[in-house]
Amino acid sequence: MPLAPVTIPLQVLDTAPQRPVFAQGPRSLSSVRLLRISVTDRCNLRCVYCMPEEGMHFADRSDLLSPDDIESVARVAVDVGVESLKITGGEPTVRPDIVEIAMRLKALGPSDLSMTTNGLQLRRLAAPLRDAGVERLTLSLDSLQPDRYAAITGGGRLDLFWEGVEAAERAGFDRLKINMVVMRGRNDDEVEAMASLSLERRWTVRFIEYMPLGDSRFTVPGVDPNDAIVENAQVARRLADRFGELEPVARPTEAGVGPASVFRLPGARGRVGFISAMSRPFCETCNRLRLTATGELRSCLFDGGEVSVLSALRPVADDNALRTAFAECVRLKPEVHSARGNRAMSQLGG
Ligand code: GTP
Ligand code: 5AD
Ligand code: SF4
Repeated sequence: MPLAPVTIPLQVLDTAPQRPVFAQGPRSLSSVRLLRISVTDRCNLRCVYCMPEEGMHFADRSDLLSPDDIESVARVAVDVGVESLKITGGEPTVRPDIVEIAMRLKALGPSDLSMTTNGLQLRRLAAPLRDAGVERLTLSLDSLQPDRYAAITGGGRLDLFWEGVEAAERAGFDRLKINMVVMRGRNDDEVEAMASLSLERRWTVRFIEYMPLGDSRFTVPGVDPNDAIVENAQVARRLADRFGELEPVARPTEAGVGPASVFRLPGARGRVGFISAMSRPFCETCNRLRLTATGELRSCLFDGGEVSVLSALRPVADDNALRTAFAECVRLKPEVHSARGNRAMSQLGG
């Protein structure tokens, strides 16, 4: 008689409340594996979940860390055991010296160098970034409908996005990750269409729960930011209804494994992932720090401890002081995030 199939419970469908407990006592620097580096807080888009309708305040250009500064912080990071470097923003490609920054980071010998971008400038930059040593790209894509894409991003052109994708693939970025922030009433009817991008392509399409950070179209008076959140358990259920049970993917040896839980649609070449920071915080296993574009090390995306590295960088970089800043920052990591963040993702390095 054939054996009954074994059903593996879907991680994202487990709705039990999750209160992380730090098994190893206070955080130590040795648990930090990844540094997310925001090279600018500016962006060529104005995504509804990231920026307010008007009045977004950007740092003065003269206050942004220089390539030297960024290299100094990253050098110490690699020295204290950070393996992966992620270049983010804002939109990293709006910085004119982005290729130089990537080259300098690559020269530090991280085991993984990746970038998260909205992709609109990749037609011009994909090949130079690849040559500079960027190994992986993650692209933001919140809708497959040109009008809606423009509405969500504040005027972004979907055709330019697809040109960017083509340029990226030509340059050798063959396993793109795609980030979709799923928002109730704005794009949540597209999760199946987005997931089906993973059927033929070796991409990972990730569904991200909206996080109320900083000022955005969802944090204005009279709007409850939580109304925009679509729990990933619902998204996963819908995908399973449409495509069949999702198959868990183990990633023991993969570079830059982040907070996503990853699955495969039956028969798909690529994968789908769920980043469920609101419904299932993963703070217990958080192995990253962030560097803001203006020189703060940040322990958490949400309200959380910040340590300025400016005095350790100027007039000349002081590696010991930078090491101390890293150690201080990691001690400020919260047990679980506060569910509301004082600064937008664009200011913090997504
Ligand atoms: P890759 O797999 O290399 O793309 O890394 P990633 O998933 O860590 O990075 P990405 O820049 O694509 O971020 C995806 C989403 O996950 C964004 O919304 C991030 O803000 C979010 N994210 C990444 N790291 C953390 C984290 O430590 N905490 C929380 N709450 N969210 C995170
Ligand atoms: N909540 C969830 N994801 C966000 N991103 C930006 N702001 C938010 C937010 N408030 C996503 C972007 C990008 C990634 C770095 O973070 O879409 O893909
Ligand atoms: Fe720009 Fe990214 Fe913010 Fe959109 S989410 S406005 S692409 S920084």
